[in-house]
Amino acid sequence: MLDKTKYGWWKSAVFYQIYPKSFQDSDGDGIGDIPGIIGRLDYLAELGVDGIWLSPVCASPQADNGYDISDYRSIWPPFGTMEDMEGLISEAKKRGISIIMDMVLNHTSDEHRWFTEALKSKDNPYHDYYVWRDGEPGTPPNDMRGCFGGSAWEYVPSLGQYYFHQFAVKQPDLNWDNPRLRRELYDMIRFWVQKGVEGFRLDVIDSVAKEPDRKITARGPRLHEYIRELSANAFIEPGIVTVGEAWSADTGEAIRWSSPDGSELSMVFQFEHICLDRGEEKWDSRPFSLPKLKRCFERWQRELHGKGWNSLFLDNHDLPRAVSHWGDDGKYRVESAKLLALMLHGMEGTPYIFQGEEIGMTNIRLGLEEYEDTETLNMIAERREMGYSDAEILESVHRQSRDNARTPMQWDDSENAGFTTGTPWFAVNDNFREINVKSALSDKNSVFYFYKRLIALRKEHPVFREGDFTLLEPEDETLFAYIRAARTERLLIVCNFASEARRWRAPAGFESAPVLLANYPEPEGDLRPWEARLYLAGEGEK
Ligand code: GLC
Repeated sequence: MLDKTKYGWWKSAVFYQIYPKSFQDSDGDGIGDIPGIIGRLDYLAELGVDGIWLSPVCASPQADNGYDISDYRSIWPPFGTMEDMEGLISEAKKRGISIIMDMVLNHTSDEHRWFTEALKSKDNPYHDYYVWRDGEPGTPPNDMRGCFGGSAWEYVPSLGQYYFHQFAVKQPDLNWDNPRLRRELYDMIRFWVQKGVEGFRLDVIDSVAKEPDRKITARGPRLHEYIRELSANAFIEPGIVTVGEAWSADTGEAIRWSSPDGSELSMVFQFEHICLDRGEEKWDSRPFSLPKLKRCFERWQRELHGKGWNSLFLDNHDLPRAVSHWGDDGKYRVESAKLLALMLHGMEGTPYIFQGEEIGMTNIRLGLEEYEDTETLNMIAERREMGYSDAEILESVHRQSRDNARTPMQWDDSENAGFTTGTPWFAVNDNFREINVKSALSDKNSVFYFYKRLIALRKEHPVFREGDFTLLEPEDETLFAYIRAARTERLLIVCNFASEARRWRAPAGFESAPVLLANYPEPEGDLRPWEARLYLAGEGEK
């Protein structure tokens, strides 16, 4: 087991993200909950993960499924009680699994007491916890827009002021320039550390040092000063793992964020690979290019090697399902899900698996009226107003909506996929009779067991953690192949990103190397559709 008191333990770890609302319901109200998660810990221990990134469970009116917190120190009742949360922390710990809480420090809910106080008057002590500008109705301070559409400014007539919100109207931004506010946030994080939480995922953390007058949201001038202060005051124990969500991070920034001196965070989620096939807006697409994707990963692998630390992910609660987006979720669903897993987990960094990814769950195709996510709903309304046809809108929604990732977890082939005995809060994907945990566990060739093997290999072979990265055939349109080398071990990862077979010969040094893991039986000679192999040469060869 990993020694989690030591700085850097997370370099050998694999994490698993739970979106609690959709994971497992235990009381029949149709909403996933903490006791439901506790009941599935043995499943996660079987998979072999070292930690759970738990999407927000704090009290919230759920305007953005918990990313709008109204009380950082209590649990949203449908998810359970504080005792349930303490139970989850201790039951997980017994299985060697750490709880990593999702902390939303950039904004609160408008129903948070700080905000309701702030609304009372300009000289209320909490007023300055938020970002205000004086103004007249109808003329906001500037034309900044919120990430979920509409103006980023909301007028409050009783104060004659606008408040700033980068996300929904119900998510007012916190003012990090106020030291008292920052102190409250650090104290609140310590409250959770004392309860046994061992890490934090920090929501849109690159946006906290905003300067809206200069239209700056991400990467404000005081950003790293604030993060170092946060780290020094809240993440005191060397073993605490932190991962910041930073859409603005390039490799240079990520090196600062994840510097091995531990002064900021353990790592960040960066999104360069995710944005490669997006247009100006995420709803518009650009053609996918494998050479571009490879060069992107190569740059992140090479530039952070020895200087910072990568997080590795393709899926999360804000993204479409990886197997639908990057793979083939029809005929080659199983093969391409395994290929994506190997392509990612072979790299240097800490891999994150999003619930359901380990069984190859796919996107859902609903009608426009059936969506739930606030971002999706705002876009539908906006684009209708702009004159887009419903067919065009539906196309974008099917491809990009965050709801693709938020359908209930598919546990078995019984009604509602074993997620709930009641009415699920959101649609279950029709394919649950074929794609579910129960059937994955009873098939030794399932996507699940492929992930399990990958997680175990990362612990057995230091080259996963330490190896450098060499990309082969950078211009090849369908082959993604790379070598990782450290000390005497060398890994070769080969992935055929196509539904056609292709010629393949192992390069020098790997001609007689054994294949340690593959997604087809008898992995020899040319590559079959979506075939992926992991070769190991050198000392590790047994
Ligand atoms: C992050 C979360 C996303 C949320 C947004 C606002 O991007 O991952 O789900 O809507 O922040 O909190």
